[in-house]
Amino acid sequence: MPQERGTWSASQTTLDKATKVMEAAAASGDLYRNGLGMIASENIVSPMVQKIVASDLHGRYAEGLPGKRYYQGCDDFDTIESVGIELAKSVFKAPFANIQSTSGTVSNIAALKALAKPGDAITAVSTADGGHISHARMGAVGLRDLNLSTYPWNEERMEPDVDGACDLIRSIEPKVALIGQSVFLFPTPLEEISAAAHEVGAKVMYDGAHVLGLIAGGVFQDPLREGADLMTGSSHKTFPGPQGGFLLSSSEDPAFQKRLNNAIFPGVCSSYHLHHVAGKVIALAEFEEYGAAYAKDIVANAQHFASALAAEGFDVLAESRGYTASHQVLTRHGETDSGAGAKAARLLEDAGIITNMNMLPGDTKAMTPSGLRLGVQELTRVGMGRLEMEEVARLYARVLIHNEEPSKVKNDVKELKSNFQVIRYCFNDEERTGYPF
Ligand SMILES: Cc1ncc(COP(=O)(O)O)c(C=O)c1O
Repeated sequence: MPQERGTWSASQTTLDKATKVMEAAAASGDLYRNGLGMIASENIVSPMVQKIVASDLHGRYAEGLPGKRYYQGCDDFDTIESVGIELAKSVFKAPFANIQSTSGTVSNIAALKALAKPGDAITAVSTADGGHISHARMGAVGLRDLNLSTYPWNEERMEPDVDGACDLIRSIEPKVALIGQSVFLFPTPLEEISAAAHEVGAKVMYDGAHVLGLIAGGVFQDPLREGADLMTGSSHKTFPGPQGGFLLSSSEDPAFQKRLNNAIFPGVCSSYHLHHVAGKVIALAEFEEYGAAYAKDIVANAQHFASALAAEGFDVLAESRGYTASHQVLTRHGETDSGAGAKAARLLEDAGIITNMNMLPGDTKAMTPSGLRLGVQELTRVGMGRLEMEEVARLYARVLIHNEEPSKVKNDVKELKSNFQVIRYCFNDEERTGYPF
């Protein structure tokens, strides 16, 4: 008897491995469904985005640009990507948009490929002051073999020291002046820095990974009109789409635009995850409708949350500037390099509150920092507002100030979260079921 092709039989040990993975994915869904996701770089996707990300597109290829493909079968995806490019141009008010990048880091690698050659100079915010690893020699900057100089930092204002940054740019004459951080409380004074960069012939690259949704929502700053030649970013932080990236530019120059497109493909991508691109397009359409309200609510919530934490007795950074103008809040939990931030993050996790430890000014070791970086974009997305921000600050205080048993607090976290299971600021294409899994 010929062996049946595509048989369903499988060994129990292999099945057990798959089962373990499915169970872990479901448990991760439960963790966030019952808990408070407060990592500033994360978000949840809408029901329509969930649906398209799980579509047949996940297995397809479409190298090139709409209308100029290397494979057959791309006509429908051409429609999707064309709609997406136009939406991205409109949402980000950008003359140029490429929506293919598979992450913020990939966008940065492509941008640096387009803007600089190995050995060129670049200026950026240091990782100790909140710059991203892709801005450092250990990341994309090193991959492109660029000579990095970092801006002096104004700890009081939590932004680059503007005069110092301009002096540095004028003396180094870099090819790229890179702006933007992972710890991003306040808009960067971009016009002055851009003027200094353009004076010496540098391109200004703004990494808006964290704040892209706030920028598009009109509540942070407007880099492409404040001198940035290029803006990169993630599609899944304050911009609430699936994981991926954007590459945007204020340039109308077709030759420069072509260089940017080529830097993505064939530069750093072959397949660019069509299901995620389609998800980004849906998220862009949803953002066009609801993005301004979402962005405004995020910043209001972050400011309420910071004030509420301070009222509970926490040391919240940047008090003199009103704590924050973004989705992020920074708290200090002990001495510099003491690891107090790591301990606080672990205790909060035991209470069902997911955060990350973060280096604060003065900290020198990434694994034993004194602070936490907190983000409210996900709680905002499920409808939490001022009252809930106060409630969440109380939950933090119970764990970290009043030393209550985290497992006891966890019950109240679950109770609070049970009332916030519907994803908002998105299309209601069918019954909205809340979190994935
Ligand atoms: C400033 C900045 N740039 C780039 C990235 C990388 O983004 P992705 O995780 O999408 O690669 C991050 C990630 O958090 C970031 O904070």
